[in-house]
Amino acid sequence: MLKNELKTDLLDKVVSLCKRRGFVYPSAEIYGGFAGFWDFGPYGLALKKNIKALWWKLFVDWREDMYSIDAALVTKREVLEASGHVGGFSDPLTDGSRFNTMFSTSVGAGKEAATAYLRPETAQGIFTNFKNIVDSFHPELPFGIAQIGKAFRNEIAPRDFLFRVRELEQMEVEYFVREKEWQEAFEMWRKKIHEWIQAVGIDSKKVHELEVPDSERAHYSKRTIDFEFDFPFGRKELCGLAYRTDFDLRNHQTMSGVNLSWTDEEMDEQFIPHVVEPSLGFDRTILAVLLSAYTEDEMNGEKRTVLKLAPAVAPVKVAVFPLLKNKPELVKKAREVYQLLRSTLHVTGYTIAWDDNGNIGKRYRRQDEIGTPFCVTVDFDSLEKGDVTVRDRDTGKQERVGIPNLIDRFRKVFV
Ligand code: GAP
Repeated sequence: MLKNELKTDLLDKVVSLCKRRGFVYPSAEIYGGFAGFWDFGPYGLALKKNIKALWWKLFVDWREDMYSIDAALVTKREVLEASGHVGGFSDPLTDGSRFNTMFSTSVGAGKEAATAYLRPETAQGIFTNFKNIVDSFHPELPFGIAQIGKAFRNEIAPRDFLFRVRELEQMEVEYFVREKEWQEAFEMWRKKIHEWIQAVGIDSKKVHELEVPDSERAHYSKRTIDFEFDFPFGRKELCGLAYRTDFDLRNHQTMSGVNLSWTDEEMDEQFIPHVVEPSLGFDRTILAVLLSAYTEDEMNGEKRTVLKLAPAVAPVKVAVFPLLKNKPELVKKAREVYQLLRSTLHVTGYTIAWDDNGNIGKRYRRQDEIGTPFCVTVDFDSLEKGDVTVRDRDTGKQERVGIPNLIDRFRKVFV
């Protein structure tokens, strides 16, 4: 097989696993699908939730300089005029006329109806709430405002599974600084993005920084680094870090007539803060996570497919099996173990699953394919000795662990 075929093959395999195992389905599939739109199934949703929780922890909760918002998706025309999107958020068409890639809609009825847009980035809702956050919380500079949410782009050519979609999710921070502090903030977020890539389980050997040249930067940016990933279809942008200067706040101030400057009482000065923006696309993140985790190997002489997901993001953390489904004493003991794990770990967000479908080999294969880090089997020895087999997804190693020690065993890995 040629190298390129092998690579496309990897994407096809991930797409097929996602559908087979309930991660991602084509949207409106029974009507032939809908290009650029995807629906997340139970495991995709759990993976998404875990990735967002990890991002929130690293970018927001573990810091003391962050605030958060959840702004409206339908955005007033003036906001996107000030940001430059109404005039400039367009792609070239083959016949030379440019095409604005925002989805427009109309709000209200009849003559009162006003054109509005589905937001093309989460950033603008942050800028329009800058004054609200300052007035409510009186933060010191530098500080950031974070938002996770949907954004919409009417891409001319959606493609490559989750890579280029029309309905996407973004995880963004707008970090407000004094102008002279922007480089320091830029370096700080640059490091944070690398830390994130490591934590979420993206293969860091496949991530490369690209200093975006002047001619290719977005209209608002004075410096941008793209973090590119070696996707099977080429090296492409995974996420970005931009120095947006005071472009957005200044334009919103001009357009709205509302003073958006910052008052430094000690220095007795007023100025518009500058902005450094780490912007991460959720859909590309999930694709890079899946491509990094997808592995085919051999275990005990059998070929298997396994998603070596970071335990923190795996949709199911532990699956509990009775060795045999038709032995009531095994099922009873296994239910006890399952309930024990659920009542302690499950409530803090670690999904514990029950699996008694098919033989043990089949269950291991299923759990490997969805990336479950540990499987716990209750067998006849468990009834006598009060211990269980814990099997490690990546090494296949099995160890006996006393039932009372299980919680500590897993807490060590997941917390
Ligand atoms: N607020 C800055 C901003 O939106 P961007 O480079 O246009 O910058 C940021 O988008 C990130 O959003 C990208 O790095 C990418 O991860 C993701 N993204 C953008 N368009 C996308 C699309 N059509 N499909 C999937 N992800 C997309």
